[in-house]
Parts: sequence; C-alpha cells; structure tokens
Amino acid sequence: MRVGILGAGNMADALGTQWAGAGHEVMVSGRDLAGSTARAAKMTAQAGARAVRAGSFAEVAGFGDVVVVAVREEGLRTTLQDAGAALRGKPLIDVTNAAGPDRYDPTRPLARLIGDITGGHVVKAFNLCHVDVWRMTPPVFDGRPLAVPLCGDDPAAMEAARTLTADLGCTPVNGGGLERAMLLEATAAFMIGLWFGGADAQAVLPPLASSGTHQPA
Ligand SMILES: NC(=O)c1ccc[n+]([C@@H]2O[C@H](COP(=O)([O-])OP(=O)(O)OC[C@H]3O[C@@H](n4cnc5c(N)ncnc54)[C@H](OP(=O)(O)O)[C@@H]3O)[C@@H](O)[C@H]2O)c1
Repeated sequence: MRVGILGAGNMADALGTQWAGAGHEVMVSGRDLAGSTARAAKMTAQAGARAVRAGSFAEVAGFGDVVVVAVREEGLRTTLQDAGAALRGKPLIDVTNAAGPDRYDPTRPLARLIGDITGGHVVKAFNLCHVDVWRMTPPVFDGRPLAVPLCGDDPAAMEAARTLTADLGCTPVNGGGLERAMLLEATAAFMIGLWFGGADAQAVLPPLASSGTHQPA
C-alpha cells in the first residue's frame, strides 16, 4: 500500500517506520522540505527496508492510497487546505488529538472537521496511545497484543485501517461509525489527563469477564 503521512513529527516517524518495515511505500510531509527529507532519511535507516520519501502536503495527498493525518491541532486546517483536492474520496486515517487534555471540545470533533474540509473517508485510529507505544514491535502488554479501536463509515477505508493496524502487530477492533470518533477523542483527553496526574489509566477498566453479561448488538 502507498501510505502518505501529513506530518513529519513523532507520530509520522513511529507509525511510518513500522509500515515501511512491513513493506509499504511511505511518504511524509512537514512544513518544510528539508526537515521532512531529514525525517524520511532517518525512517529509512530505521526501517531497514524501502526508502521513505518526503514531499509537500499536496504531494503526500496525491501519493497515498491511504493518507494519515498526523499533525498538531493548531496546524490542522492549513495542512489540509495545502494538501488540497487529492484527499477527496480517499481513505484518511486520523490520529489527531486536541492540543491538550483540557482543551478538547466534544462539540467540534477533529475527525468530523477533517472529513468536512477534505471530503475524504475518515477513520479515527491510533489516538489512544502515546507515540512510544507505536514504536514497539509489536505493542504487547501482559502477553496480549494491543487492541486498536477504529471508527469510520467507509468499508474500504476501514479495511485499509485494519490492514495497517495488523501490520503493527495490533488487533483491530470495530469501534463503530465515524459519529463515534468523538468518543475516541474524548477518551484520549480523559486518559491523557489521568496520565498527567500520575494515574495508571489501564487500571480503571475491568477485564471483559467482569464487565457484565451482554448480548451482541
Ligand atoms: N505524540 C503522541 O504521543 C501522540 C499520540 C497520539 C496522537 N497524537 C496526535 O498526533 C498528532 C501528531 O502528533 P506528534 O506527536 O507527531 O506531533 P509533532 O511531533 O509535534 O509533529 C507535528 C507535525 O505537525 C506539523 N504541523 C503543521 N502545522 C503545524 C503547526 N501550525 N504547528 C505545529 N505543527 C504543525 C509539524 O510540521 P513540522 O514538521 O514542519 O514541524 C509536524 O510535522 C497530534 O494531533 C497529536 O495530538 C500524538
């Protein structure tokens, strides 16, 4: 798969390096080509596989079979506008979170903003864990592969997200439609707030066996 990544920061580095190592073609973009080129060279060296390329936001948008949105909230609008019309109708994987856990506005979900600006098929994913988790090969805790909830409406975009999740060594979980992406965003804001306070966020949730008896929907 050709994976374009809008962003050349930590999340682009972590996820893109894993996907390049798994055999995907990857292109990253930050705001200046020199910085993106340096990032791509580092990723290529770490992946030990295919060369990771660098380009402009518009070049990344045109390159990707799937395009990952991995920029800071403050740069979201301008980045998507610079990326341009090539995003329309494409699978877009949105990993973004609010600029701070106390700055999330559930009335303005980031995933919906991305869909509205681009006309792309958005899947929310990978926003619940710190970047260091995405550098693990694979992310396994207490012997269990990390489960990654995916929220999106478009079947092809969801399939691309499932493939990229499995290629990290993680287990994809159907999180429902795109209207539920705001729940993932709010969950991240809540969990990050707990981490900042020194709490073990994983400890707040019981295992399935202690979560009552439920009929499948
Ligand atoms: N870090 C984590 O642990 C983590 C985990 C889950 C989700 N996320 C989310 O993933 C997204 C990317 O996070 P990150 O850790 O990769 O961030 P980062 O390392 O700071 O990288 C941010 C990227 O956004 C670009 N950008 C574009 N416009 C910008 C602007 N006006 N101000 C700042 N940056 C701008 C930067 O461009 P330049 O390259 O030109 O600087 C850079 O490529 C964020 O939405 C974040 O909330 C992060």
